[in-house]
Amino acid sequence: MRAGVRPDAGTQDGGASRPAVLLDCDPGHDDALAILLAGATTELVGITAVSGNAPLERTLHNALIVTQIAGLDVPVVAGADRPLVAEPRHAAFIHGESGLDGPELPPLTREPAGGSAVRFLLEAASARDDLWLVATGPLTNVALALREDPSLAGRLRGISLMGGSYGPGNVTAAAEYNIFADPEAAAIVFDSGARLVMAGLDLTHRFRIDAERQAALRALPGAAARFAAELMTAYGDAYARSFGPDVGVPLHDPCAVLAVTHPELFEVELRHVAVELTGTHTRGMTVVDRRPGERGAEPNVEVLTDLDHATAFATLAAALAGYA
Ligand code: BDR
Ligand code: CA
Repeated sequence: MRAGVRPDAGTQDGGASRPAVLLDCDPGHDDALAILLAGATTELVGITAVSGNAPLERTLHNALIVTQIAGLDVPVVAGADRPLVAEPRHAAFIHGESGLDGPELPPLTREPAGGSAVRFLLEAASARDDLWLVATGPLTNVALALREDPSLAGRLRGISLMGGSYGPGNVTAAAEYNIFADPEAAAIVFDSGARLVMAGLDLTHRFRIDAERQAALRALPGAAARFAAELMTAYGDAYARSFGPDVGVPLHDPCAVLAVTHPELFEVELRHVAVELTGTHTRGMTVVDRRPGERGAEPNVEVLTDLDHATAFATLAAALAGYA
């Protein structure tokens, strides 16, 4: 079942053929890094914010602040302020009440673009045939867009998402936060027929910032890199409080951007993935069919299983330094 690298996503490192990306996110410390990475390595057509790590009002504010600090002139659009069915559940224990606790934030001078995230997403996908949707929060906006226009699934080049796992979860024993926060939305996305690339916890928990990488970030030039380093320090402190001092800081969300810009860094398995909606202990779990050979159900997801960590971190660092 191992499919190796995916040659058609292309490698774009500041070259002329940067992939076109719309980033749907809930910043969030690691979402902020995903924004900075996407701003430097893709043709970033816009950012849509969703309720997740913090309430929508905060994730929208945070997406605007990140673009402001980086000098990224991309539209930022407000999306869903609650999950489709589940009660809102934020992640203040990691990201703080603000969603970006840690660095002192400047006063916000940017304004959100008008209109809804769903409209923005559908129009962006109609305007071109090469758009990647990168989703690093709960999948509410994406599901709402697919519900309004199911043909979106075939018009996107793909959806690269951070979420799920085939091993343990992080919110419950079985479920990862982005899927658990809106399982009904995730089920719509996983069943949509779109090309899906999944960066789950099994991958992202192994791509960590340790003390050495923290120091490397602090040594980078420019305001955007300094902001990223401050964010990672706060993020590291929160992880240490919650999970112990030696775990390092997982760079979840940048993986979903790197999967589009640098697919050659990843190993991937084609698998069938379903979202559990009703399990007493497993609601929000991504059930990844890893049965050997032909026994597994028809694959619908490219599940990322490994990453060249050193090159990925160097790519992220170069992207941050490039803002100086
Ligand atoms: C995911 O949950 C959020 O807290 C992070 O931003 C990431 O998208 C990891 O489970
Ligand atoms: Ca996120």
